[in-house]
Amino acid sequence: SSLVVNAAQGRPMPNTLFGIFYEEINHAGSGGIWAQLVNNSGFEAAGTRTPSNIFPWTIIGTESSVKLQTELSSCFERNKVALRMDVLCDKCPPDGVGVSNPGFWGMNIVQGKKYKVVFFYRSLGSLDMRVAFRDAISGRILASSHIIRHKASKKKGSKWQRVQTILEARASSSNSNLTLTTTKEGTVWLDQVSAMPTDTFKGHGFRKDLVEMLIQLKPAFLRFPGGCFVEGVQLRNAFRWKDSVGPWEQRPGHLNDIWNYWTDDGLGFFEGLQLAEDIGALPIWVFNNGISHSDEVDTSVISPFVKEALEGIEFARGSSTSKWGSVRASMGHPKPFNLKYVAIGNEDCYKKNYYGNYMAFYKAIKKFYPDIQIISNCPAFKTPLNHPADLYDYHTYPIDARAMFNAYHDFDKSPRNGPKAFVSEYALIGALQAKYGTLLGAVSEAGFLIGLERNSDHVAMASYAPLLVNANDRNWNPDAIVFNSYQAYGTPSYWVTYMFKESNGATFLNSQLQTPDPGSLIASAILCQSPQNNSTYLKIKIANIGSIPVNLKISLQGYVSKNLAGSTKTVLTSGNILDENTFAAPKKIAPQTSPLQNPGNEMNVMIPPVSLTFNSFLI
Ligand code: AHR
Repeated sequence: SSLVVNAAQGRPMPNTLFGIFYEEINHAGSGGIWAQLVNNSGFEAAGTRTPSNIFPWTIIGTESSVKLQTELSSCFERNKVALRMDVLCDKCPPDGVGVSNPGFWGMNIVQGKKYKVVFFYRSLGSLDMRVAFRDAISGRILASSHIIRHKASKKKGSKWQRVQTILEARASSSNSNLTLTTTKEGTVWLDQVSAMPTDTFKGHGFRKDLVEMLIQLKPAFLRFPGGCFVEGVQLRNAFRWKDSVGPWEQRPGHLNDIWNYWTDDGLGFFEGLQLAEDIGALPIWVFNNGISHSDEVDTSVISPFVKEALEGIEFARGSSTSKWGSVRASMGHPKPFNLKYVAIGNEDCYKKNYYGNYMAFYKAIKKFYPDIQIISNCPAFKTPLNHPADLYDYHTYPIDARAMFNAYHDFDKSPRNGPKAFVSEYALIGALQAKYGTLLGAVSEAGFLIGLERNSDHVAMASYAPLLVNANDRNWNPDAIVFNSYQAYGTPSYWVTYMFKESNGATFLNSQLQTPDPGSLIASAILCQSPQNNSTYLKIKIANIGSIPVNLKISLQGYVSKNLAGSTKTVLTSGNILDENTFAAPKKIAPQTSPLQNPGNEMNVMIPPVSLTFNSFLI
């Protein structure tokens, strides 16, 4: 096989080509990148019905020593459920009785680290409460604080009060609980219990290790918050941005009915915008367009939804004196967020009211925010749309690796005069070839991505899906980043996106690949800048999904190297095509860089079977 690269001829690639897509799926946010340790902070997870199941909270004590029940008595208007705790023992056990929260499959408490614990209480007498992190198995106390609040007056004593304390861990456990216990007989009401590490990313509440993994990808954009999460199985369970902003303790939370768990919405609309800003990405807001998986709002009555979307845009980028911009400012971000893209719904194109609803949103947004780029759910890669749009959304989840690889042709013939493509979700899926994230799956996606680079005069944006999975809630496989309470690793698909991170804003070079097996081999060449040393690099990517090594003759034309000897090759491969990364071997499959043997304007390189290779030359 041979590859001729013309380094003197090329065209600019979009600055936005590769980004990421965050969805509240697999406990990606709740119990994931949102560092809140308490699961079901406000006891609302069963909805507003009382008495209700307070899962996953459990009782510490016996039926005769403590009684728990839920009541609609909270001081928070939008989340009325509170926990009433009647302590019945006059001689309670020395460790006390009370409640315990396991977090999301165990809280990770690290020796020397500090944790901010906040809760709200009401009590008829004084409060005498021990707040502690304990190892879930041994019960050993890792950190604790004794809270005593004397009753100031009868009137004040019956009012809701806020308590805040910092716990410093004197030992570690990745499987701990938060406990609130007392030895004092009486009645106390508890609500909105929170525990956060004090060292979250930029102090913004995000789990540092996971954010750093996102930054490493240099994503140009962050699409959020879904996905089907935006739609809901039922409209009443869809994500509503207004319920997810303002002080965390006032948010009602909601049932994520499509992915089957409760979310307190700690990572809400504001936090999604903040996360995008923190990782240097443009936010792309996907909002509900009045359509869920099982019900729809008729276009004739869609106007309240349109108003809600316009207000969401005002929240994101209105001045800090505007109605909704001032709410954003009150949350600590007076400067508008850089919101330039919105998507009207997710995967709703063929639903009854999509066209009508879409047009109502489109017209209103373009009227008030003409610069905003609007993304339609309807495909325009073969035929033009019957409605105006700046971009169209494209999702692909093949279950066959060859089909994924050969999808590099998907946009070869797309009309160049219509809206551009946003490939906002792609991945090889399926238990046979993709499993939890195999080398084979990743290489098949690399082939597809090279196709997107080749068609980047039409494809403006692309992101893998889903981004994050808590290993304890594998709702959807595979994913790019796998984590538990204290560990995280990238799957091979993560590393493939990492190997494409220089493509944003690069120059796509003309190249011709001659191969007897075009279904197995594909290549692209780009010129890109290195931000580290301000140098220009020529980078050639070759994806080989075939089962035999390929001897590739590369000819570089119109190219003078400043340092040919410093050329490198980076390879992603493994001994077995179905190999995966794990917590035990997190980088079994990760890019390996070494000097390129015998670099020159004419050279032969060996491309391993089922691999992605990246050759890099300094210009
Ligand atoms: O990425 C997982 C799901 O796949 C998304 O929620 C949805 O948009 C698609 O069907």
